Amino acid sequence: MAGVVVTSRLPGTAVERLRAEHEVRYRDEDSPVPPADRPVLLAGAEAVVVTLGHRVDAAFLDACGPDLKVVANVAVGYDNIDLDACRERGVLVTNTPGVLTDATADLAFSLVLMVTRRLGEAEREVRAGGPWTFGMFHLLGTSVQGKAIGIVGPGSIGLATARRAKAFGMSVLLAGRSAPDPAAVAELGAEVVPLEELLERADVVSVHVPLGPTTRHLLDAGALARMKPTAVLVNTARGPVVDEDALVAALEAGRLAGAGLDVHEHEPRVHPGLLAREDVVLLPHIGSATVETRTAMADLAADNVLAVLAGREPPTPVR
Ligand code: GLV
Repeated sequence: MAGVVVTSRLPGTAVERLRAEHEVRYRDEDSPVPPADRPVLLAGAEAVVVTLGHRVDAAFLDACGPDLKVVANVAVGYDNIDLDACRERGVLVTNTPGVLTDATADLAFSLVLMVTRRLGEAEREVRAGGPWTFGMFHLLGTSVQGKAIGIVGPGSIGLATARRAKAFGMSVLLAGRSAPDPAAVAELGAEVVPLEELLERADVVSVHVPLGPTTRHLLDAGALARMKPTAVLVNTARGPVVDEDALVAALEAGRLAGAGLDVHEHEPRVHPGLLAREDVVLLPHIGSATVETRTAMADLAADNVLAVLAGREPPTPVR
């Protein structure tokens, strides 16, 4: 029986499934493990299951000790994990791609509609309790039909967002480092263009790239300056992909029409320049937050741990 540490609460039966085969230390809390608690919780672990709030760095791995074989991230992104430190110690890393694609794309397109139809602002108006009347000019938004969505990072979530946009009558532009699946491009009737062109032509720019050295501040002041003043930016990927100071400056100067952000550059802090703006919709990183999706993510993380500890190839390793 190997020692499995589950560092935060998981939905469904993932923990029971791990317990059926291994000794499990289960931390029934959502917050990251305080460094002072690490020695007791992590020592001797052969597998650890972590969520995004946990930074898995050399100190975390050292607290686990030399028996550690796998770090199973319950997320598709893994910028919270120091892959080099894991490699140096021969520790495998796994993530949870696929199972959260639809939930995240649903949320991305919800943000598109929320921003373009001014739904946050409209809801705040009703909740403020003041009088309102139907009027031809009351809270006018813009329609998405006939407009172009630009998908920055046409991986599975980006393409799933594009499919939703197409169903709503939008045309699709795609830009990314690697060529998108040709079948998906054909199905979407999409144009694959350089990022600069996408930024200049899109009415909605939706970000779906992973965070890494080449994508940090990919949407910087220069990139945002290429966007149309009528365009909106949606980010459901990782906050630091967008330079938030530059975003606030562009919104304040009227060089951008709005933004929908599920992720933030310095989570959980939200840029103070965004908080008071009516043209911005702000969510607390809930892209995959449905019961079904989070349960599937926990199950996939458990599958990864069970496979590695049984000497098998895990279903979704990070390469
Ligand atoms: C959520 O942000 C994830 O990467 O799964």
